[in-house]
Amino acid sequence: MSAPQAAKARVALVTCAELPGLDEDETAPIAPLAARGVLAEPVVWDDPAVDWDAYDLAVIRSAWDYAGRRAEFTAWAERVPRLANPADVVRWNTDKSYLRDLAAAGVPVVDTTWLDPDSTATLPTSGEYVVKPAVSSGARNTGRYDMADSAQRALAAGLATKLIAEKRTVMVQPYQHAVDTAGETAVLFLGGHYSHAIRKGAMLTGPASEVGLYKEEEITTRSATDSELHVAQQALAAVPGGARRLLYARVDLVPNPDGHPVVLELELTEPSLFLRHDEGAPERFADAVVAYMAR
Ligand SMILES: Nc1ncnc2c1ncn2[C@@H]1O[C@H](COP(=O)(O)OP(=O)(O)O)[C@@H](O)[C@H]1O
Ligand SMILES: [Mg+2]
Repeated sequence: MSAPQAAKARVALVTCAELPGLDEDETAPIAPLAARGVLAEPVVWDDPAVDWDAYDLAVIRSAWDYAGRRAEFTAWAERVPRLANPADVVRWNTDKSYLRDLAAAGVPVVDTTWLDPDSTATLPTSGEYVVKPAVSSGARNTGRYDMADSAQRALAAGLATKLIAEKRTVMVQPYQHAVDTAGETAVLFLGGHYSHAIRKGAMLTGPASEVGLYKEEEITTRSATDSELHVAQQALAAVPGGARRLLYARVDLVPNPDGHPVVLELELTEPSLFLRHDEGAPERFADAVVAYMAR
């Protein structure tokens, strides 16, 4: 007779109904977790049949459909007993207004003008600008406009007015031209440690157009420079409640017109972690999950 086996730890890898089996990048840690005695499985966040209490940890992954349902999503996060990243981080991080907090803490961020709900959509009259909602992902409702071109400026005003009418906060940023050459650098942290980095090609060619759950991205491997790592660490240090509570973090940086890295986005909710782009990353993610559960 064999001895009874200790119950395996169970981890929910949280996804959305459109990707019930997870995005393929997100399945990479399932085998490394199994090797560590952890049963990890995809679970759809808004599936009413799920018993979240049955999981030792729920890890938000490809839950990419919350932008139009943020209140529902953050309320869900608060109901999950053991969630990574924690619910208050999710609440803070699902609205890009957190960039204002980062800037106030001295972190270099992309120059941004904020159009709050109920404001009038006043836009620059020359130069290239990006217009996007503060609550969004996957580059949805995000466009690039040449404000000196009256037709494009009218489209930008139309987008901003539509978003404001929907009671959404709108961000207007100078188009960071260095993304066309240098691209965007995503710096990945797992369990508080720098893990790897990737380069994302420029994504905006013109006015906002219809996209599905997310816009296709061109990803290649790259390592982070010392100055990128420094800014990324600064951003993490400014997270309310401290970065020690984070299982994963991604800091997206672009070079500003002076060539210095500035934060475009701090992704603490449902970032693609690009685990397949670095040989050791799925194992490091599994180690981080195990360490997180043991805290
Ligand atoms: N100010 C900007 N300058 C240049 N490109 C931008 C700017 N803002 C956004 N983009 C492009 O649009 C993409 C999506 O915008 P982002 O702010 O990352 O929001 P999200 O990824 O949540 O949709 C970025 O990856 C980048 O390619
Ligand atoms: Mg982004």
